[in-house]
Formats: sequence, C-alpha cells, structure tokens
Amino acid sequence: MLSRLKEIKHSAYCSIAKASSLQDVEELRISYLGRKGKLTEILRNIGTLKEEDRRAIGKMANEIKKELEEAISIRKKELKDKTKAPKYLDVTLPGRTHWIGRRHPITICGQEICSIFNRIGYSIVEGPEIETDYYNFGALNFPKDHPARDLHDTFYLKGDLLLRTHTSPVQIRVMEKKKPPLKILSWGKCYRRDKPDASHTPVFHQLEGFYVAKNVTFRQLKGTLNYFAYQFFGDDVETKFVPSYFPFTEPSAELYISCSVCKGKGCKFCKGQGFIEVLGCGMVHPKVFENVGYEPGKYTGFAFGMGLERLTMLKYKIDDIRLFYENDLRFLCQFGP
Ligand code: PHE
Repeated sequence: MLSRLKEIKHSAYCSIAKASSLQDVEELRISYLGRKGKLTEILRNIGTLKEEDRRAIGKMANEIKKELEEAISIRKKELKDKTKAPKYLDVTLPGRTHWIGRRHPITICGQEICSIFNRIGYSIVEGPEIETDYYNFGALNFPKDHPARDLHDTFYLKGDLLLRTHTSPVQIRVMEKKKPPLKILSWGKCYRRDKPDASHTPVFHQLEGFYVAKNVTFRQLKGTLNYFAYQFFGDDVETKFVPSYFPFTEPSAELYISCSVCKGKGCKFCKGQGFIEVLGCGMVHPKVFENVGYEPGKYTGFAFGMGLERLTMLKYKIDDIRLFYENDLRFLCQFGP
C-alpha cells in the first residue's frame, strides 16, 4: 500500500508539472483528488485496513493529499500569470531611454577656448569668485573714486569683500606668487549689477589670459588673438583692433570680429556695424607690475579678457543671453555631447 501511495504521488507531480493549460490541471485534480480520484479511493478504504497499517497509511495519504492540493494551486497560478503576459513584443513602441546629461554650451565653448590656448602653451588656473576690493580694483590700478569703477558696479559683501566683476584679479593672484615667464588662462563666473536683458545677466562668464616675460610685444598680442579668432570662428573671420581704455593695461585695445550672421555687411545682429566687439586687451600697466612686486622695467606682458556668453552667442548665432540660464532642455539639448 505504501509503495502504491508513493507511485501516485510521483505520477501526480510529473503530470501537474507537464500540464500546459488550466483545464489539464483541473482534470488532473479530479483524477487524483476528485470523488472517484485515485487518492480519494485510498483514503476512503482506510477503514478496511488492518489496525496496525491504518495509522501510518492514513497519515501518509493525508500528507500527500495536502501536497498535491498545494502543487495544483501553484501550477494554476503559474498558468494564469502566463496568459496575462503579452504574447509578443511590440517593436514599434517608443523605446524607454535614459536621459544622458550633456555639457552646457558655455562649458563647451569654455573648454574649447582652453584647448586652443593650451596648444600654444597656456596653463589653466582658477581664482575665487569672492574677492577683496584690493584684488578686484586696487591692485589693478582702479583708484577708489575712478569713474572706471562705474562700469563694474557689483554685489558687496561684508567688510571689503565683493563678488568679482571680472577675471583680471587672477592676474594679480598669480603674479604675486610666481615669477615670469607666465602664460596663464583662467575662466569662471563674474558678477555685475546689470538688469537682465537680451545681452546682460547679473552673472556671466569671463575668460582671462595673460603672457608676461621679457620683451613681450603688442605684435605678439595681436598674433595670439588673431590665432584664437581663426581657431574659434574659422579662417574666414576678419579681425580689427580698436583703441580702448582699461586702468590696468597701456596701451589698451578692443578686438572686434566680423559678424558671423552677415559676414561683415551689417545686419540686426551686429546693429548694422558688420563688426562685433568680443574682448578687451592691452599691455600690462607698469603700475600692476609694481603692485605685485616685480622689478620695474624688467618684464613686459599682455593681457586679454573676454565674455564667454558673447563668444558663444556669436559662434552659435544665439540672439538672447537669457536662453543660457532658463534651463529649457529644448534649447540646451541642441549643443554637443
Ligand atoms: N577685465 C576687463 C573687463 O572686464 C577686460 C580686460 C582684461 C581688459 C584684460 C584688458 C586686459 O572689462
């Protein structure tokens, strides 16, 4: 009897596992556990067994009954779940992609300009955004009441701390620590109390470069900036140097490049001028060398500072600076990786 029970259990398990539809499983349930089922029959006849067999066989048959009931309900659930799953893969459904971040257009251009200057030997350094009055103005030869400060109204913090209005203080910080020859490039955020409009934001980026050594000439400044303009805007760009004024350079100039939209003919973008100002530059003022403790007359050098937003707008023909800072992905996703 015991071996018959084991046989029933074995064959029931095999058939339940093989059953491929709910109906098959139900038929199996009836054939084992139904009213006339194989196991039911044994259980029904237990009373007719000898006293000593009754207990062991009864116990085993009841255990098998429980196990089979459980196996059947598990298999039924498995088959039900299978019918719920889609039968095929719809390859025409739009894919679920992960958003991959990309560089901001200002970062793209900042890094590109760094690599343009890297190629001719410039090293990259960083400077603080919170500066003292001395580094932002005093050391750069802006006297306290000089009107040149009017263009650099900023956000003032405690004491004589302020948010830097340009990257030129980096010149002082580097020259105080190191002796020429120096070929340095630095870029980062600057701040001015400007009302936001199509070409101003109170936070913007500048890129500062300077070369200080013995016998550096204005001609080298022109050559360096022309090289930069051709590399960044392409060989057909035209450049023009116009005299200007900065307290920390003498002589000073501004670099203009031909408008990328109208190629110099004059349009709305360049306000009919054909040329657009992109940076300030000049030969480092002897007073600046004196302020950092260099021996008078020993070195000469040039410096230049450019607005990164302006350059990026010209390169990509963007007509409103605020687009950079609105976090509109439709705009931002149009630029490089
Ligand atoms: N720092 C100047 C500005 O913000 C630009 C400049 C830099 C001019 C270096 C000359 C030399 O206007």
